[in-house]
Amino acid sequence: MSVTVVTGSASGIGAAIRDQLLAAGQRVIGIDRQNADIVADLASAEGRKAAVDAVLEACGGKLDGLVCCAGLGPTAPSSSLIVSVNYFGMSELVDGLAPALERGTKPAVLLIGSVASVHQGMDKLPMVGAMLANDEAGARTQADAMAMPQAAYAGSKYAITVYARKKAVELGPKGIRLNVLAPGAVETPLLDASRADARYGEAIRNFVAPIGRNSAPDEIANVACFLQSAQASFVHGTVVFVDGGMDAMTRPERF
Ligand code: NAI
Repeated sequence: MSVTVVTGSASGIGAAIRDQLLAAGQRVIGIDRQNADIVADLASAEGRKAAVDAVLEACGGKLDGLVCCAGLGPTAPSSSLIVSVNYFGMSELVDGLAPALERGTKPAVLLIGSVASVHQGMDKLPMVGAMLANDEAGARTQADAMAMPQAAYAGSKYAITVYARKKAVELGPKGIRLNVLAPGAVETPLLDASRADARYGEAIRNFVAPIGRNSAPDEIANVACFLQSAQASFVHGTVVFVDGGMDAMTRPERF
């Protein structure tokens, strides 16, 4: 039986992916702050190490899949928290679990990015440079100094996408596939909180994808499960937008 770790398994997109993998007969090890097989706080280095250790024990050191969904939106308590969870909560899980994945069967990793990662100027942000240099303390300081949670969110999603594309080159020869799924607006508690926020609510409500509606979590999970499956055996190092056309609308000449 295939064994897949899903972070953020208690809610939204992660819960939908967990349910679909279980329905397909896989074993799922869910990680979240609550209501999960492994309860861990991915915001801290200690919490991430505890999560990796618990996974290694639960899977006996051999893993077939990893899907990193756990993330915070721009309404999170601080920009530094967004950086820690959205970037280091994914990159350190990939790094920590890569040896177990190498021992797995047709192993595949999927990171949930965002269409927000394509916002212009993300590559110039000091916090992004610090994330990509694996400097968590520096990235947290830069993020809080900028005091723009929306930029911390988009910057963390841009940085984790760059991390993934570089990591794919390293993991390919080890037989591990790695991709990024970039959703548009998905009906989850994260989107509810953003829509209700006095700072961002109106812009989010007015930004409608060309397809004319937001996604259900299952529509994201459908693509995530395909990317993790043997049917996607040659899909590696890529970013798949599942966004109802948002990326096409905002930057038709870039692909
Ligand atoms: P959600 O809020 O429904 O689920 C996120 C899950 O992550 C929750 O169960 C939460 O407890 C967990 N989590 C947060 N911080 C954690 C921590 N420190 N340690 C362990 N677990 C933690 O949100 P949703 O929408 O399902 O988000 C999943 C991913 O999809 C996130 O990475 C988000 O950035 C991304 N995304 C969501 C979009 C949307 O419109 N909902 C759009 C684009 C990307």
